[in-house]
Amino acid sequence: MLGRRCGSPRAFLALGLFLLGLGLDWVPVAQPLKVPLRVKDLLPVLPRQVSWPVLNNLHSAVDLLPSFVGSVAPENGTIGWKGTCFLDNEARLEFTSGDRGDDLGGGVLHLKTDAAHSWTCMDLYVFATPYRIMWDYYFSTREHTLEIKSWEEPAELEYVKQHGVAIFLMQSGMLGTLLSLIDVLPLFSNTLWGQNANIAFLKKHMGASFEKRPQPWQANISVADVHSGDFLAISKIRGRWGGFESLEKWVTGAFAGHTAICLKDEDGNLWVGESGHENEKGEEIIAIVSWDEWWAEALKDSSNPQIALLPLHPDVRAKFNSTAAWEYARSMSGQPYGYHNMIFSWIDTIGDNYPPPLDSNLVISILSMWTRLQPSYAANMLDEALNKRLGTKELSLHHILAEAERRGITLDHLLTIPEQDDWVYSDGKSTTCVAFILGIYKAAGIFEPFSSSIQVTEFTIRDAYTLRIYEDNQTRLPRWCNDGKVPFCQILGEYRMELPEYNTIRPYAYMNEHCPSLPPTYERPANC
Ligand SMILES: *[C@@H]1O[C@H](CO)[C@@H](O)[C@H](O)[C@H]1NC(C)=O
Ligand SMILES: *[C@@H]1O[C@H](CO)[C@@H](O)[C@H](O)[C@H]1NC(C)=O
Ligand SMILES: *[C@@H]1O[C@H](CO)[C@@H](O)[C@H](O)[C@H]1NC(C)=O
Ligand SMILES: *[C@@H]1O[C@H](CO)[C@@H](O)[C@H](O)[C@H]1NC(C)=O
Repeated sequence: MLGRRCGSPRAFLALGLFLLGLGLDWVPVAQPLKVPLRVKDLLPVLPRQVSWPVLNNLHSAVDLLPSFVGSVAPENGTIGWKGTCFLDNEARLEFTSGDRGDDLGGGVLHLKTDAAHSWTCMDLYVFATPYRIMWDYYFSTREHTLEIKSWEEPAELEYVKQHGVAIFLMQSGMLGTLLSLIDVLPLFSNTLWGQNANIAFLKKHMGASFEKRPQPWQANISVADVHSGDFLAISKIRGRWGGFESLEKWVTGAFAGHTAICLKDEDGNLWVGESGHENEKGEEIIAIVSWDEWWAEALKDSSNPQIALLPLHPDVRAKFNSTAAWEYARSMSGQPYGYHNMIFSWIDTIGDNYPPPLDSNLVISILSMWTRLQPSYAANMLDEALNKRLGTKELSLHHILAEAERRGITLDHLLTIPEQDDWVYSDGKSTTCVAFILGIYKAAGIFEPFSSSIQVTEFTIRDAYTLRIYEDNQTRLPRWCNDGKVPFCQILGEYRMELPEYNTIRPYAYMNEHCPSLPPTYERPANC
């Protein structure tokens, strides 16, 4: 049950790229000078500032999509295809016994590239399973190998046996983008090294301080002091989810990566509502679980979570309609996690929302790869949401992009059309972790009199904790959780949580529909 996550689109993409591996095989061997030189081939070696505008002029959005060249599985022998640089390519996959000692084993991908059309050209490939994405690029005609030391889990091994490793040919202009993300890699390691990488990353890119807290790191919670509507802000710093959260924090400016909400029933029992809770089948859904179960899972979570409890202000709590909150929460319980609106929650100001080197082309590339790997999630996650934005039905990604282009809508613009809370997808309403909580707040009347002009899917986690709705009098915080150092309650964690601008912005109509968010300061204009 430790797979809880919130998930925001950009982090998801970066995660896709760096989930667990990255192969680099830089072999700039000189080639005979008998092939022609082409300007386009030089793009990857030019600085990004030069190459990207050129590239963007050369291609339409559709051309930027990675092309799927095939899947290679051990049983299936060798696959061959034509690249853009090398016309003659082959790949085969071999399972190896691995180095972990638990017999999961790994694999080696053997690639042969031949018949380059020019001596300056290269082919850039992404190799993917739903569990990892690796990439590599080739300048030379020869045999290359790409090693996968160990499959991440038995499910990955099983997937590769059945479906193989997917190979995508990328626009070579993507190289700069991929290279500049290299320092993101160690974030996903479930080791002390990985944790330190996350901490260093957040310190460097967000100015986080990570001050150690004195023991005990875990509070003895008194359920009587916790109320319906109290917000739980969670920050993970280790392993796959830690790395995922770090990227998400970086792109959204939030100092927490996941959220949940406290709800009390008529008998005074405490429950936790959470979107992104992993059920027994490994699906991420919206769930309401008892406090004891939730807390026990938090305590044994290997991602080393830091957890803060943000109690509602007494005046807000007085406004909180618990009946309506429960009605909404129950109506959502069991629904799938909000894959649809995940992508769109914060891409709301053109150009201003992607920290370099992410940009909308990369976003679309990764999403289209995801569509290939996990058709059941991804097709509806992306295609349905984009169809809603265009007012079309059941167009595939390629057709959506073509249709947008026909109407003169740019890719950036298409991605920034705001999500509407009342959109219903084929598998139900879609809410991410924080949209679920704010949906409860909206139902409970906290945003009155602006409820009808608040789209909760526009809020990031940071937008949620900067709302001015929480307890602002330190002396009223429960004694079991507050050491006077932070204006909220920290109930778990080795490091002191920071929530910059906590509890400062009063709700207003059309809140957060046009807010930029760019590191390192994430400056937010008033009333955006
Ligand atoms: C193996 O090859 C067969 C026939 O070409 C194809 O139908 C199947 O999808 C391939 N399997 C994988 C895992 O690529
Ligand atoms: C919680 O209770 C345990 C045992 O009763 C105690 O050792 C620990 O110090 C307490 N923690 C806090 C934060 O009070
Ligand atoms: C609280 O919500 C319920 C259900 O939506 C509604 O029937 C009730 O009138 C609300 N109570 C108040 C005080 O607004
Ligand atoms: C904070 O709460 C305490 C206890 O309820 C109260 O005495 C005090 O006046 C409050 N302070 C402010 C600034 O409201």
